[in-house]
Amino acid sequence: MRYPLSPISFIFSLFPLSAYAQALCNGHAELCSRQYSNITQIGTHDSAFVGTMPTDNQEVNITAQLDAGIRFLQAQSHLDGSGSLNLCHTTCMEKDAGPLSDYLTDLKIWLDANPNEVVTLLLTNGDNVNISLFDTAFTISNLNKYTYTPPTSPLGLSAWPTLNELIGNNTRLIAFLDTGAAPSVHYILDEFTYFFETPFDVTDPKFAECTLDRPKGATADGRMYIVNHFLDLSIGSVDIPDDSADDTTNAATGVGSIGAQVGICEGLYGRAPVGVLVDNFDRGNVFAAQDALNGLGGPIKGGGGGGDDGGVGGVISKGINDLKDVF
Ligand SMILES: *[C@@H]1O[C@H](CO)[C@@H](O)[C@H](O)[C@H]1NC(C)=O
Ligand SMILES: *[C@@H]1O[C@H](CO)[C@@H](O)[C@H](O)[C@H]1NC(C)=O
Ligand SMILES: *[C@@H]1O[C@H](CO)[C@@H](O)[C@H](O)[C@H]1NC(C)=O
Ligand SMILES: *[C@@H]1O[C@H](CO)[C@@H](O)[C@H](O)[C@H]1NC(C)=O
Repeated sequence: MRYPLSPISFIFSLFPLSAYAQALCNGHAELCSRQYSNITQIGTHDSAFVGTMPTDNQEVNITAQLDAGIRFLQAQSHLDGSGSLNLCHTTCMEKDAGPLSDYLTDLKIWLDANPNEVVTLLLTNGDNVNISLFDTAFTISNLNKYTYTPPTSPLGLSAWPTLNELIGNNTRLIAFLDTGAAPSVHYILDEFTYFFETPFDVTDPKFAECTLDRPKGATADGRMYIVNHFLDLSIGSVDIPDDSADDTTNAATGVGSIGAQVGICEGLYGRAPVGVLVDNFDRGNVFAAQDALNGLGGPIKGGGGGGDDGGVGGVISKGINDLKDVF
């Protein structure tokens, strides 16, 4: 050793960071051995539309969303005037958040820096463009390095890998497309083969239902599901996000909360959703709701590890606690 050891580096030398980082998956040790299909993640609806306009759905960019603990991103794509595949809200005239490949690059950089995190990406294909354009965006960003391809399509609910397995194989991105997926691009999965969704553009602040809306006429059996838990306000023929209700809509419990609507869902389907999409995830108490749905105690406070026990401070205090046990 060239340098004398400080007390902190002494602890790290006894308890290497990686040993503790390995023990957490999406911020919680308890999730490591759980199957992907049996874990609920809060998702950011229209994650790319960041700002304070009615066409915006989130207040911070996806890097900040992921840093805060979000592990499910939803984003809407359209062609812009020059034929580029961009993240646009209904049309690129209304809101253009830039090329899909830039967004995917931000996600790739985050996954590089956070090797124990498994992220779900749900893209919509609003202009029904050829899957090859999505393939190009994933290839340019090099995000396809991390994608998971199930061994069969569909994959039974009990056949999904655990987070440990996904992390071990470094296949930490599960990417879905709502329409236009094709076997030629095997790593972009057809959403409705694997999932059903509840209605979106809900205007009932009580969120008093959890019906299967899409795919039309399908059965819930064998499908994971996504709950659209974001509230809209109808103004004439236009629906805009009802930001004023975010604190109650994104609450963990109470009338119209995440917990209340998912309770209805669990009654109907006998299991929890894999995704619950929200607007302005940083309002309300979405991580308390997520932990409760996953049967975990304590709120996620954020940080790169995504968990209350995921930060360096947590690792150090664990090391100190372990030292106390040793001495
Ligand atoms: C995301 O937003 C943060 C501030 O919240 C900013 O520091 C960062 O540069 C942004 N990242 C990207 C990739 O735009
Ligand atoms: C997408 O484009 C490829 C060529 O790049 C073509 O082979 C394929 O048939 C197209 N798929 C659809 C669904 O049009
Ligand atoms: C992990 O990778 C190995 C080797 O490619 C493969 O056999 C195995 O099925 C993968 N596991 C999962 C859960 O994808
Ligand atoms: C699914 O998660 C619940 C906790 O929410 C747990 O009790 C159950 O054992 C899990 N099932 C599987 C197959 O992992």
